[in-house]
Amino acid sequence: MEAKELIDKLEIHHALTAEEWKTLLLQRDDNTASYAAERAVAVRRRIYGDEVYVRGLIEFTNYCKNDCYYCGIRTGNKNADRYRLTESEILDCCAHGYELGFRTFVLQGGEDPHLTDEYLCTLVQRIKDTYPDCAVTLSVGERSKESYRTLYKAGADRYLLRHETADPAHYERLHPAALRLDNRKRCLYDLKEIGFQVGAGFMVGSPYQTTDCLVEDLLFLKELSPQMAGIGPFIPHADTPFSDRPAGSLEQTLFLLSLIRLMLPQVLLPATTALATIHPQGRELGLLAGANVVMPNLSPRGVREKYKLYDGKVCTGEEAAECMNCLQKRINSVGCRIVVDRGDYKKETESCTT
Ligand code: 5AD
Ligand code: FES
Repeated sequence: MEAKELIDKLEIHHALTAEEWKTLLLQRDDNTASYAAERAVAVRRRIYGDEVYVRGLIEFTNYCKNDCYYCGIRTGNKNADRYRLTESEILDCCAHGYELGFRTFVLQGGEDPHLTDEYLCTLVQRIKDTYPDCAVTLSVGERSKESYRTLYKAGADRYLLRHETADPAHYERLHPAALRLDNRKRCLYDLKEIGFQVGAGFMVGSPYQTTDCLVEDLLFLKELSPQMAGIGPFIPHADTPFSDRPAGSLEQTLFLLSLIRLMLPQVLLPATTALATIHPQGRELGLLAGANVVMPNLSPRGVREKYKLYDGKVCTGEEAAECMNCLQKRINSVGCRIVVDRGDYKKETESCTT
């Protein structure tokens, strides 16, 4: 089948077979990508109109016990300048974000042993008590089902945990033996079952990634059907074993964003910071490929440089929450607008009819 026919089929059935995915991925060229983007934007418009949701990202600790080969805050990176925000610093970020119109706070951190259930529950409860109209998203890695349940009961609404790659052999090449794909998947299914809006996802162009890996990623995303999907290019970090690997490509990332929009029409799909890092208009291009979420940085200025998962991370100026006017303008330039809203997942029946 021709690439365009496969895209049409994907739009109608929201699924392709492994062979069809492979054919489509291998046939990417400018024409195919712009057709996929056009269809993806049409689907997004039908469901979310011209609304783009913003999330205030609070990177509250860069301590991490894990040693992922790609990540700048891995425990093995002795050059990382470690920090952990205090509860009052985190609440200040929320206060500032609320003023700016944020109604979702994303608490992201490494797998910091300091983050006990007790500590996180108190934090989530404080934020929810102060801002009952806001959603709290956690992104603090792999935990037990019991722990996830406790966090959910404390009021956390959403959880981000990228699966990174759905191919077990590839997973082993990106992570030390202590991390297992099976456990990552178990976490994602547990989170979903508990009631969280769940985000999975992967890096595009990570070392050793093949087209077959991407096919597995797409099939896994379909099977899990998460409410959110985080897709961004891999970018090397100088203090990691993958320092000399090339970054993932803009074009392939944008193409995958479009395909994921067509496969999971309702999905909350951010134009990620990594995308904005590899191209000055990365966020806008992401929206033009079918994304509908942006996550500006709300962390205190003093720590932004330190939460460095990869080199060159944009974290000042228009990528930061300070410049909501600039961000609004950029988003308007691609026919969308930022709304003051929690930006929850829309179920099929709630689609925009205008
Ligand atoms: N390049 C791009 N993305 C990265 N992440 C971690 N390290 C890198 C890197 N070098 C992503 C991972 C993780 C998310 C928080 O950031 O996918 O899940
Ligand atoms: Fe922290 Fe991967 S290095 S979870």
